[in-house]
Amino acid sequence: MTSVRLEYGGKTVDLPVLRSTTGEECIDITELRAKTGLTTFDPGFGNTAACASKITYVNGEKGILRYRGIPIETVAEKMTFVETAWLLIYGRLPTMAEMKAFSTRLTNNELLHEGLLHHFDAFPPNGQPMSILSAVVNSLICYSPEIMDTTDEEAMRNAVAAIISKVRTIAAFSYRKAMGLPFVYPDPARSYCENFLHMMFSIPHRPHQPTPEAVKALNLFLMLHADHEQNCSTSTVRIVGSAETNLFSSVASGVCALWGKLHGGANVAVFEMLSRLAKGDESVESFVERVKNKQARLMGFGHRVYKTFDPRARILKKAVFDLLETERADDPLINIALKLEETALNDDYFKERHLYPNVDFYSGMILRALRIPLNMYTVMFAIGRVPGWIAHWREGNEGARRLVRPRQLYQGAVETPFLPLDLRQDEEWDNEK
Ligand code: CMC
Repeated sequence: MTSVRLEYGGKTVDLPVLRSTTGEECIDITELRAKTGLTTFDPGFGNTAACASKITYVNGEKGILRYRGIPIETVAEKMTFVETAWLLIYGRLPTMAEMKAFSTRLTNNELLHEGLLHHFDAFPPNGQPMSILSAVVNSLICYSPEIMDTTDEEAMRNAVAAIISKVRTIAAFSYRKAMGLPFVYPDPARSYCENFLHMMFSIPHRPHQPTPEAVKALNLFLMLHADHEQNCSTSTVRIVGSAETNLFSSVASGVCALWGKLHGGANVAVFEMLSRLAKGDESVESFVERVKNKQARLMGFGHRVYKTFDPRARILKKAVFDLLETERADDPLINIALKLEETALNDDYFKERHLYPNVDFYSGMILRALRIPLNMYTVMFAIGRVPGWIAHWREGNEGARRLVRPRQLYQGAVETPFLPLDLRQDEEWDNEK
């Protein structure tokens, strides 16, 4: 086995070098502290492989993304979201019989407990759908405690189907509630994506029939968001799951992590940025200057791993144009986005830092063409990411599970003398005034 030699404090240790199936190498430091007393420092985990995984491969230098070995371009062209979910969670492409069984399970799980519907009444109108989503996903186990027990494979299969199916119903219901519209129950005869659009846009006595292009675009959007190895929300799910927290609460924590605007919330931030620019109060050039001066951030650009291009952004950009054409829609924001992209890609600031459009740059335009409202954008990302969260939660709990518990580089006071309350002087506590 290859190893690297570290000399420190008069000691020499050999640390094994692990090799990924795709050839990347990684120093195994699990014994480092025991052998030397040293820990490692890597804020943001930019250089740390937090786990070994077999689910998704990303090569940021070459712009490669593969789910269980299948290139994202193939997934996008040939698969559906439900099939992709099965692939990610169970590790290989499903057979026809497995797909049918999975679809039946999804259909059997599409309703919410009627008691749970009262939760929607308790949220204020215009309540944040991400907040509603995380709260209701977490509440599912109160109504069906049996789905918390995933110890045998049959129970796990039901829990998997319950989350994937119900998350779509919860998302649509939270939108209907915010709009003051009656809930539209899922229709068991419709496919996963068609059913979602039905629950969002049908009204009593007038069922909504989305075009095949709209259903295809939604499938694509969800598949492209389905997994992205150890991203912030997935790492959150793995960390929470490592404490033996149930699948539903772990997924709810993933929803919360995704909400932030540097992660899934970026799709909302991109839309807001493009809308501001479309108003014409500031030119694209002047905005880019402000970004370069660190007074603003170009949302939907840059990625921790991708340093050439994000393959998901390429696929989405093409899909936006296809969809706008088939839906005969026009979107003024597209021209702003194109100009912004071109200006940034030709600018040294972005070139030197390897900043390219990421998945969030064009995804909002697909959602706009599907008439999904802005406050649902990150919810849509969450629906897509659920299979990835489940796959990682399962993987993290397989075999020798270990509580995730990082160390720190402590830089606080070494030991502070205690002063009784009545002896403390006001000026010493300025920050509390
Ligand atoms: N606009 C302007 N400058 C940027 C941007 C950006 N979008 N992204 C990175 N930089 C600069 C950053 O200021 C730094 O510059 P300097 O070297 O002068 O200090 C340099 O590039 C390296 O940036 P970093 O912050 O070390 O990079 P990171 O890997 O920590 O951050 C990121 C990755 C995605 C948080 C960041 O690129 C970003 O904030 N992008 C905008 C938000 C966004 O689109 N998020 C979605 C990410 S993809 C989907 C998802 O994960 O949900």
